[in-house]
Amino acid sequence: MAAVKGVAFMDGRWMPLAEASVPILDRGFVRSDATYDVAHVWKGRFFRLMDHVERFQASMAGLRMSLPYSAQEIADIMIGCASRAGLRDAYVQVTCTRGLPPPGTRDPRLCRNRLYAFAQPFVWIADEQQRRDGLRMILSGTQRIPPEALDQRIKNFHWLDLTMGVFEAYDRDATVCAMPAADGTITEGPGFNIFVVKDGALATPHRGLFEGITRRTVMEIAADLQLRCDVRAVHAEEVVAADEIFVTSTAGGVSPVTVYEGRAIGDGRPGSLTRRITELYWKRHEDDALCTPVPYDD
Ligand SMILES: Cc1ncc(COP(=O)(O)O)c(C=O)c1O
Repeated sequence: MAAVKGVAFMDGRWMPLAEASVPILDRGFVRSDATYDVAHVWKGRFFRLMDHVERFQASMAGLRMSLPYSAQEIADIMIGCASRAGLRDAYVQVTCTRGLPPPGTRDPRLCRNRLYAFAQPFVWIADEQQRRDGLRMILSGTQRIPPEALDQRIKNFHWLDLTMGVFEAYDRDATVCAMPAADGTITEGPGFNIFVVKDGALATPHRGLFEGITRRTVMEIAADLQLRCDVRAVHAEEVVAADEIFVTSTAGGVSPVTVYEGRAIGDGRPGSLTRRITELYWKRHEDDALCTPVPYDD
């Protein structure tokens, strides 16, 4: 297999991504005791970089982790990954793990938290054809881990519910899934937030999910367009009856869903509001106030 192009920053050292590895005793690996954030670089500029760094720091605080780096230093490490990798369109992840406990102990307070970051080529949750024709979504039979057990606003490595949902989607001739909560509402999907459109108004679930920066951007776009956008409980039945459905993620922006539980949504093609919002989402990448240029050597 060809090595992935990219650069990593591993606890203070720079290296090619293909050479980066985590110590096997790091609790990030053996206990999923980690938090992370993902930003993207598009046409040589980070999109909403400091929003990602702030959210990452809030996630760390939520897990009682700390690092000897300021917000600007974390941003500079992310910029350094993209710049050293020479990637104009990149997926840049920054991760804080609990680290290694002293030999013979398992006390999380004794660990020195570690920072790992890397840039790799841009990742899309949907391929080109799916972005054009729309995704096929199912409602997963697996529940999302509830926020009473784990505050999902903290970006975390507890992905097994999401991964089982992905398997189920593939088993059922779909590409993505929505994860339900115990009360019959939906939460989010593996790596994305969900919006439904009905009679020209948007709605997106309010709890038990990771609050995406793409979701935030879509809410801002909706406000600019003077569209109603409710952040509230969204029941599974509303998804079936929606005029349009779309999902949002840093890994690819806004992607249409055209089939839900085997039934066509609207006329079975990406809806007009979804297309307009997608266009405005990428247009925002030209706004200097939201972008941070990456300094490249060449
Ligand atoms: C579980 C989950 N929900 C939602 C999102 C979307 O967040 P963002 O728009 O910040 O990428 C992600 C990540 O990318 C995620 O992992």
